[in-house]
Amino acid sequence: MMDGKFDNDIQAVVDADRAHVWHHLSQHKPYETTDPRIIVEGKGMRVWDQKGKEHLDAVSGGVWTVNVGYGRERIANAVRDQLIKLNYFAGSAGSIPGAMFSERLIEKMPGLSRVYYCNSGSEANEKAFKMVRQIAHKRYGGKKHKILYRDRDYHGTTIGCLSAGGQDERNAQYGPFAPGFVRVPHCLEYRATDQGAPVENYGEWAADQIEAVILAEGPDTVGAICLEPVTAGGGVITPPDGYWPRVQEICRKYDVLLHIDEVVCGVGRTGTWFGYQQYGVQPDMVTMAKGVASGYAAIACLVTTEAVFDMFKDDATDPLNYFRDISTFGGCTAGPAAALENMAIIEEEGLLENTTKMGHYMLDRLAELKDKHAVIGDVRGKGLFLGAELVVDRSTRAPVPEKQVQMVTADCMAQGLIIGATNRSLPGLNNTLCFSPALIATKDDINEIIDGVDGALTRVFG
Ligand SMILES: Cc1ncc(COP(=O)(O)O)c(C=O)c1O
Repeated sequence: MMDGKFDNDIQAVVDADRAHVWHHLSQHKPYETTDPRIIVEGKGMRVWDQKGKEHLDAVSGGVWTVNVGYGRERIANAVRDQLIKLNYFAGSAGSIPGAMFSERLIEKMPGLSRVYYCNSGSEANEKAFKMVRQIAHKRYGGKKHKILYRDRDYHGTTIGCLSAGGQDERNAQYGPFAPGFVRVPHCLEYRATDQGAPVENYGEWAADQIEAVILAEGPDTVGAICLEPVTAGGGVITPPDGYWPRVQEICRKYDVLLHIDEVVCGVGRTGTWFGYQQYGVQPDMVTMAKGVASGYAAIACLVTTEAVFDMFKDDATDPLNYFRDISTFGGCTAGPAAALENMAIIEEEGLLENTTKMGHYMLDRLAELKDKHAVIGDVRGKGLFLGAELVVDRSTRAPVPEKQVQMVTADCMAQGLIIGATNRSLPGLNNTLCFSPALIATKDDINEIIDGVDGALTRVFG
């Protein structure tokens, strides 16, 4: 795949990278003796590294992003055309792709009506937190300002988002955090007994824990709750039956805004446009990023109901009563231009249907692996968003040490298969393998993923 020119220059690239690039989530000591990995090219479900080695990407760019796959010329062309026409103007004005994409997006989100553009998932979540705080100041004398978040959820990398971060190991050493964020328990049924939960009606029990926190804090102090529809980096946690309807009920009962973080699930990952649509809930605010333009351009959106929007416009006599926020690169037109094409591809190629179909197939194949390998304690997922939790012993559910989990991902990588795993996130519980192939995945791709993981588990655990 690589052209000749790049071949000749590749060592210079590796040297420059090693000398100057600070990689994300990486300890760099090993790069003193081994080359950092450079991903050079991608097509469909596959990427090639600096050595020309081909990899099947089972995690859509490492972090569940490249939903429509690599090498989409029509997205590149649309972005190019838009950049030549107008690359940027600050978001206090509109743009043609911004307006057009907002309309297309809102068509997919009944009950919501306003799109606020920015450029990362963290940033979108920060915007939502700021809105909650501003609503509290305007309407509740500043009192109803607390934001609930859930154990094991992740909402981003900024200090504000880490304050709402349910992953203690990811947060470690970055405090002190912002005040006014309060944790509620997770809803992972597989680990319900660790929580002392009853076996019956676990979903309702887990949601009731949210109500208990609201009552303990005082309902007049709680402004919002921020939840992932399916927890991603915290272990691919699909919500138990009965959870979401009860969460919705509790939010309505205590006038708590429901903010759903769709940064991973948004735009097709679970087989519906949005993860929350799998569970019949109606959010007040939705944030999204990764899959919105499949990584062809940076774009994130915070989408709200008209009722939330109205609270920032209904008193024009108050000079502070509008959302006094800006994101410089939220005015880039490449994002919505790419997002329009990305959405059209999903529709024209029937990728939501494919995701549902292939998601079922992959979950079945993972269940077969579970039958074969005692180290798999649980498999779960929704659409092409799946996880396999590794345990030392199925009866105690003691987690496999993170080092061994990383041996599995490293074995896959050596085979030319890129899978993911929870890492340095949850103390003692970084034991879930993660899979999020592009929404274009075929049975053959999935079989290749399963075969690779099968081999890796056999080599690491016997
Ligand atoms: C659920 C969730 N929310 C928010 C974020 C943060 O997004 P970003 O890295 O674009 O800031 C992530 C990133 O992985 C995520 O998984």
